[in-house]
Amino acid sequence: MSEKDATYDGIGSAYEDYASGATLKRAESYSVLEMVGDLTSVDVLDLACGTGFYTRLLREKGAESVLGVDLSAEMARVARQHEAEAPLGVTYQVTDAQHLGVLGSFNLVTAVWLLNYAESRAQLRSMAESAYANLAPGGRFVAFTINPSFDYRISTSQKYGVRVIGEDVEDDHFVCHGEFVVDPPARVDVRRFSREVYEEELRAAGFSRVDWRAAGVSTTDLEHYGAEYWRDFLENCIGIGIVAQK
Ligand SMILES: C[S@@+](CC[C@H](N)C(=O)[O-])C[C@H]1O[C@@H](n2cnc3c(N)ncnc32)[C@H](O)[C@@H]1O
Repeated sequence: MSEKDATYDGIGSAYEDYASGATLKRAESYSVLEMVGDLTSVDVLDLACGTGFYTRLLREKGAESVLGVDLSAEMARVARQHEAEAPLGVTYQVTDAQHLGVLGSFNLVTAVWLLNYAESRAQLRSMAESAYANLAPGGRFVAFTINPSFDYRISTSQKYGVRVIGEDVEDDHFVCHGEFVVDPPARVDVRRFSREVYEEELRAAGFSRVDWRAAGVSTTDLEHYGAEYWRDFLENCIGIGIVAQK
């Protein structure tokens, strides 16, 4: 079992607490759905599906089919439990997204908080290649990952449910020591690569076009929480979207 697998096997239900309460998840899911667009007749492969947050949401928003893939057997077990309790027809598979092979020909591959678990450029390339190999011609890869420009030293992101405690330099990237703000806090380390590294590895995997999409907040949440609450999120966001075209 790899260290990452063990991390999320240990986090399990704490992640559920985080995902159901964190305002980051509200803004992030709004941003991901904006990037994804119309899901009519769209077959989706959801990489790093975790407990099925997006797998289920994308199906609820109209996707034709959704297959979720995750490295952690425990996260997939919780996801399958949700499916058993409230069936949507989504399916799950426990596999490393770096070594996926071809599971099908999908119109859309999503990866929300996957690329930040690549520990090197080579691993980032493998994840990008997996996404590319599973896309039909003209398909899109929609990812959400740690923002290359994020500055944890001036961030108040704990109020949104997640925070970075410190960073170390490792080779050509940073290792961010983070935690989900739940009781007790759940620790995770993620890698913050530069924009250039992301773009080069996605292009090397075959993607013809790579666009960055800043995260946003819905009008409802802006009004509900107030503009001041979201200011830090919008100015120094921990996450950012990527849309890559096959
Ligand atoms: C922060 S959770 C995100 C879950 C879900 N996408 C969401 O946004 O709620 C990150 C997930 O990535 C998974 N993961 C990390 N490395 C992976 C890999 N190489 N292949 C597949 N899943 C991976 C973890 O097991 C964990 O479930």
